[in-house]
Amino acid sequence: MQKIEAIIQPSRLDAVKDALIEIGVEGMTILEARGHGRQKGHTEFYRGREYTVDLLPKVKIELVVHDEAADKVIDTIAATARTGHIGDGKIFKSRIDEAIRIRNDERGETAL
Ligand SMILES: Nc1ncnc2c1ncn2[C@@H]1O[C@H](COP(=O)(O)OP(=O)(O)OP(=O)(O)O)[C@@H](O)[C@H]1O
Ligand SMILES: [Mg+2]
Repeated sequence: MQKIEAIIQPSRLDAVKDALIEIGVEGMTILEARGHGRQKGHTEFYRGREYTVDLLPKVKIELVVHDEAADKVIDTIAATARTGHIGDGKIFKSRIDEAIRIRNDERGETAL
């Protein structure tokens, strides 16, 4: 199993969600996030402490999928979230060891 975490522009969420459902994705988690990439915004000093401003609103999508589905999910998110402008976001992939459906204690890929 693979976990795909995508941080995208909030304005692209509906399109990305629809595209994922279209390719057969079942479960996903959406989180409201704030962040910055390499442009970093800028930092300000206030009473001797440094504050980072310009943490911009983003949406994070998390999905755990079968190994074979990961590439298609990544390609779908990238193609749908891309506007071509800075701040379009990032996608990260990592291995997942276990999944458990709480209702009936199903384990592994059948729990997805
Ligand atoms: N290395 C990282 N680790 C975790 N989150 C990140 C990382 N890089 C970017 N993000 C998240 O992704 C969001 C969008 O990043 P962004 O697309 O601006 O990346 P970038 O590297 O600056 O690329 P670009 O030059 O296209 O803007 C950030 O606001 C942050 O939430
Ligand atoms: Mg950036």
